[in-house]
Amino acid sequence: GDNTDEFNYESLETVAEFIRSKIPFSPKLLIICGTGMAGIPEVLDNPIVLNYNEIPTFPLSTVQGHAGKLVFGTLNGVKIVCMKGRFHYFEGYSIKTITKPIRIMKLLGVKAMFATNAAGSLNPKFQVGDIMVLRDHLNMLSFGGENPLRGPNDSRFGERFTPMNKAYDRQLIKIAHEVAKDIGLADNCHEGVFAIVSGPNYESVAEARALSILGADTVGMSTVPEVLVARHCGMAVFAFSFITNRCIVSYEENDEPNHRNILNVADQRSEKVKEFVCKIIEKSQER
Ligand code: 6GU
Repeated sequence: GDNTDEFNYESLETVAEFIRSKIPFSPKLLIICGTGMAGIPEVLDNPIVLNYNEIPTFPLSTVQGHAGKLVFGTLNGVKIVCMKGRFHYFEGYSIKTITKPIRIMKLLGVKAMFATNAAGSLNPKFQVGDIMVLRDHLNMLSFGGENPLRGPNDSRFGERFTPMNKAYDRQLIKIAHEVAKDIGLADNCHEGVFAIVSGPNYESVAEARALSILGADTVGMSTVPEVLVARHCGMAVFAFSFITNRCIVSYEENDEPNHRNILNVADQRSEKVKEFVCKIIEKSQER
């Protein structure tokens, strides 16, 4: 369900104040742990956990493979908050509710967001288990008129019209490629365009073909709403897709995507992905 009142500055500030009362520091980096990325918070020193259901008005994760907690801690001295479990449009939440945590984190002092997701691959050069760093996105929800920035603009967060041509931080993309090389992932780390569809169904053959023609390399059901809201309020953004399966673009193909298989694939490479994220954070501090 949706309650747009919950999305205004004062309501979000009340939630931020609640979190401040529980956490003795101000996080600077938000990491959104997508499907199969739940291991990322394990790398944090001195973790403090806040369950979503303890936080007034915070949404709850309903998808298998997504826990519902914030994990605060430090890595290499960087103060971090991880969202273990994110929200998707297909769960029935409004597009604004999905992105509510981003504005709460902004009020807590977060300056940068790393977002991760599990995605299907449309690019024949990408293998299952590979990583694709987002250079850009194709927002099919926004094509259809669903955008979290729709409605009255609160200039305390950002301006009415938000540019999206440089949404993904070029410096962080560069660092990601360097890290991939350093940890032996050079051949398994790509860069490209992520398309968001609402889900919860996977694409039809015609839809997968269409997205490919439009320039998408991967497709999933998350991340882009959070990116819009993060950019609106001035956060630096970095995102990558973990490729769990190939999109089916042929009627001759008998295989079909399924969630259990996608979770398994994501779990198998979780250690490597954790290392990738840690090293990017470390290296981005050196600059
Ligand atoms: Cl093939 N499609 C979508 N929409 N989301 C996915 C996926 C495919 N694989 C993982 N997530």
